[in-house]
Formats: sequence, C-alpha cells, structure tokens
Amino acid sequence: MKPDLLIVSPLMRPFMDDLASRYTLHKYYRAEDKPAFLAALPEGVEALVTTGGTGLTADVIRALPSLKLAATMSVGYDKIDLDALTEHGATLTNTPDVLTDDVADMAIALMLASWRRLREGDRHVRSGAWGREGPMPLNHRVMGAKVGIAGLGRIGRAIAERLVPMKAQIAYFGRHPREAPWRFEPDLAALAGWADILIVATAGGAGTASLVGRREIEALGPQGCLVNIARGSVIDEAALLDALEAGRLGMAGLDVFENEPQVNPRFGALDNVTLHPHHASGTVETRDAMAQLVVDNVDAHFSGRPLLTPVTP
Ligand code: 8YV
Repeated sequence: MKPDLLIVSPLMRPFMDDLASRYTLHKYYRAEDKPAFLAALPEGVEALVTTGGTGLTADVIRALPSLKLAATMSVGYDKIDLDALTEHGATLTNTPDVLTDDVADMAIALMLASWRRLREGDRHVRSGAWGREGPMPLNHRVMGAKVGIAGLGRIGRAIAERLVPMKAQIAYFGRHPREAPWRFEPDLAALAGWADILIVATAGGAGTASLVGRREIEALGPQGCLVNIARGSVIDEAALLDALEAGRLGMAGLDVFENEPQVNPRFGALDNVTLHPHHASGTVETRDAMAQLVVDNVDAHFSGRPLLTPVTP
C-alpha cells in the first residue's frame, strides 16, 4: 500500500506524477467542502505538501493527528503556522539555496530598472520621443552609489556579492552583525538615510511587519530608490504609496505586495515604480529544483532518512 500524502497546494505536473507513483495523493486544493474533505481523510496521514503562496493553517494541521512532515515549495514560510506545526510535533521543510541566485538577480534587475530608468527609456524609444525631442534625461550611476541591504541572509548576501563588481558602496541592517566585509548598521532608518538605494531582503512574518515604515521611506528621500524582493508585509505599503505619489520617495522596484495577487491600483497609476508579479524565483530551472527538493524531503521522510532542509523553529 502506498503511503498517503496530502496535497494542500500542487507542484508542477511532472512532480505530481512522480509523487503519485509512490504515494496516494489526497488533493485538498480540489475539494469544495474543505472541512468535509479533511474529516474524510484516512487516518495516519503523515506528510503534506504545500507552496509559499498558499501556506498552511492550524485547522489543517490539527485535522491530521499523525502529521510529521509539512514540505513547502518556498524558502519563505510566513504563511505557514509554524507554532501550530511545532506544537503538533511535526517538522517543516522549505526550499532554501536553490532559489537564492534567481532572487538576487531579480533584486539587481529591479534596482537597475528603477535607478537607470529603464521603463522611461523604453517608453522614450517606443513613443518616438527620442526622434522628436532628443535624448532622455540623464540619470545616476550605480558605481559609487550607496546601497543598503535590509537582511543579510542567504539572499541578502548574494545581492551584496553582485553589487561588489558593480562597484557600489554596501552597508547592511539586520538583528545582528554577520561575518561579512560590509558595514553593519543597527538602525534601519539611519541606513536608509545614508543609502541612495535600499534593498529589502529580510524574511516575512510578524517579526518584520512594516519594518520599513514612513520614517525609513522618508529617510531614503526624494532621490532614493526602494527595492523589495522579500515580502509585501515588510514595507508599510500605505506609507510607500503616499511617499511615491508625493515625491517624498524617488522610485521603487517591487516584486512583492501586501495583498498580492490583488495589488493596490494606486501602484499602476505611478510612473516611478517598476512592478513585477512575485516571480523572482520564477525560472524553469529554479522552480524545478524547488519542486525536486520538496519531493526529496517527502521521500526522505518515508524512507527514514534525515530530512534535507528542515526549518528549525
Ligand atoms: C515563490 C517565494 O514565489 O520561496 C519563496 O518564499 O516567495 C517564491 O520563491 C513561491 O513561494 C513559490 O511557492
């Protein structure tokens, strides 16, 4: 008999097919009556799969008395009730490392698109303004620019490493100084005041909610650029919109939003933002590696091998 596996949110098709060859899949995401579906599950479901966008709530966890493993296809687990999982005696695995380079690349892409005004340049060519009116206005170089990074975890560090050959000045904020060659700044508003560009690369969740608020945004100022590849919750979005609209913040490059995928329409009306639909890890190679890591963690659990990427609460 194949072991039971609850699919809270599906992986891509080939990975689902692979899982189905070894496990009996219970497709929660397809159920119309979710409580009835949970109540009808066979006893002894030990593992489940979910994704970062869907997460995992305490009511699902508590409906699975034998749950031992929740495997999420995401590095972030801000939508997963880790307290409820831990209380339940279950372990969470996530997908760190495999997406680091893609997300760091996207931070740099959003920084360059905003700072070097790529959207404006593109419009200048398409509209014929170049031929009619001449060159677009000058902008500023990255070389020598002061770039602050909020959060020097795996992704923050990969961003800093990309900024080194770009010859930017680098400093970072975090809860503690890290083993790193860059200046640590314990006060985020002070870092924002120093920086031309602030890149947000912290984890999401309650601990970082509205970490970048009005004070930090205004410290960055009318010439400043804010980039976010972390979570929408890390920035006070109302304060961000107010500042962008009033010109108290120069520009922003955003991959993540507070109520995504429903994005505040005020963003769409702004010219000084570059918007991206939470797709920093959205390459074929990386999404395959993330899904494979989920499968490998599930297989490790059922074959009694150590989990590859457990989250330690
Ligand atoms: C994905 C992410 O968009 O890994 C994360 O935490 O935010 C992204 O890689 C998503 O969570 C994939 O499920």
